[in-house]
Amino acid sequence: GALDDLVVVSNREPYQHRYTEEAGVVVDTPVGGLTGGLDRVMRRTDGTWIAWGDSDADPSVVNAADCVRVPPGDPSYTLRRVWLGEDAVREYYYGFSNQVLWPLCHGLHGKAEFDRAFWERYRDVNAHFAETVAEHVEPGSTVWFQDYHLALAPRMVRQSLPAGTPLVQFWHIPWPEADTFRACPEGEALLDGLLGTDVLGFHVPEYCRNFLDCVARELPGATVDRDAGEVVYDGHRTRVRAFPMGVDAERIGDVSANTPDGFWESFRREHGVVGSTVAVGVDRLDYTKGIPERLDALERFWERNPEWRGELTYVQKATESRSAIPAYQRLGTEVRDGVERVNDRFGTDEWTPVVYLEEHLSDADLYGLYRHSDLALVTPVRDGMNLVAKEYVAAQPTTPGEAGVLLLSALAGADDDLGDDALTVHPSDTDGFADAIGEAVSMPDHDRDRRMCRLRSTVRTNDLDAWMGDVFAAVEGVRDGVGSVG
Ligand code: G6P
Repeated sequence: GALDDLVVVSNREPYQHRYTEEAGVVVDTPVGGLTGGLDRVMRRTDGTWIAWGDSDADPSVVNAADCVRVPPGDPSYTLRRVWLGEDAVREYYYGFSNQVLWPLCHGLHGKAEFDRAFWERYRDVNAHFAETVAEHVEPGSTVWFQDYHLALAPRMVRQSLPAGTPLVQFWHIPWPEADTFRACPEGEALLDGLLGTDVLGFHVPEYCRNFLDCVARELPGATVDRDAGEVVYDGHRTRVRAFPMGVDAERIGDVSANTPDGFWESFRREHGVVGSTVAVGVDRLDYTKGIPERLDALERFWERNPEWRGELTYVQKATESRSAIPAYQRLGTEVRDGVERVNDRFGTDEWTPVVYLEEHLSDADLYGLYRHSDLALVTPVRDGMNLVAKEYVAAQPTTPGEAGVLLLSALAGADDDLGDDALTVHPSDTDGFADAIGEAVSMPDHDRDRRMCRLRSTVRTNDLDAWMGDVFAAVEGVRDGVGSVG
């Protein structure tokens, strides 16, 4: 079946092997919904995951064949590294992927840095990935590309695959409206690359519609069937489908329920979290996450509600990300300055309004923090899905009276699934956002419980297994007649 011979291809690797003098090879796991989620999927397979080897361990230390069995300690699948030189990393990863496609797809095309060299390198690196995939595919394999770093590889690899090999791509970030996408000079080539797949998945129907609009407008010769969600192009059919990604809700619930006694007291003591009510936010330091907007809303809330000073404390866990890019450096500075501003304005000797953590938290600490936080602020200015919202829900206690409140941006893909029972926030509307915080901190128990109960059932039903099941059902649907038009 599809699971045995699965070849997953992504830019980011699920395990990074670092070499240290003292300890030899040390293994890290990167932050981000893609690697965390897919690793849970891959653990159930004996497949191969192909990714950029960005670790600094000398490849020969890890394995001469560029392959290593993972997870460490309990190996179940093979990780194959693609090594990239410095120029490739600069132009393909920091360049076209993260300074063109990332802002463009999040609707921020004014932030895009178009540069011919970025594009050419992106094409070369996609070709490099495509060649590596061809080495690992056998009859019966399924090839599953991930995300915006690899839009061209599907078309490039298609000819080298055994006939009937299903080719799937899941795009983890939004797909923009046609008007925004038009800003990209290489738009046609990107669409052409993605239409090398049999199944192209997005988180929500809106992104599928946007994609189909772009194809209809930019790609001469393509036939778009909006009702069926299909494109026929160059004699080949691509199904465009929404598969909302979920989290491993059961595991998160278990880990959080097994938080050791005294965890919360010591966590609070260690990090200086005072106050009766705790709000939490967990983000990569990315300008799409809306962290400065959130700090503004909290500041407005404390300004208007002095009785909550000393009572509501906000814990922001932030993870450094892509910090070689100037826009990310500026964002980092803006966030740290914003935290300082709010803390200078309202903080006292006894109370720090915003507790800011950049250090790594273990899963147990993270889920424990979610469990004990009275509200979560998940308020990106744009986000493909946002799995933090789902993790927070999965970690909530089921005891009556103890459920937290989710504040969720209308601009996150997760709003599709969770919007009805979260408090919906427009992140740039500071007053409305501050009001929503006020509503959350004073929400009656029965209302919190009722909302969280429904959210929990949604998150448990549409979990990671369900996502994978939906994707593979679509693969099975095309296996017998891959690419055929008729
Ligand atoms: C988002 C992207 C992923 C990416 C993650 C972390 O979730 O969709 O593809 O892996 O961010 O970003 P990074 O650039 O560190 O891989």
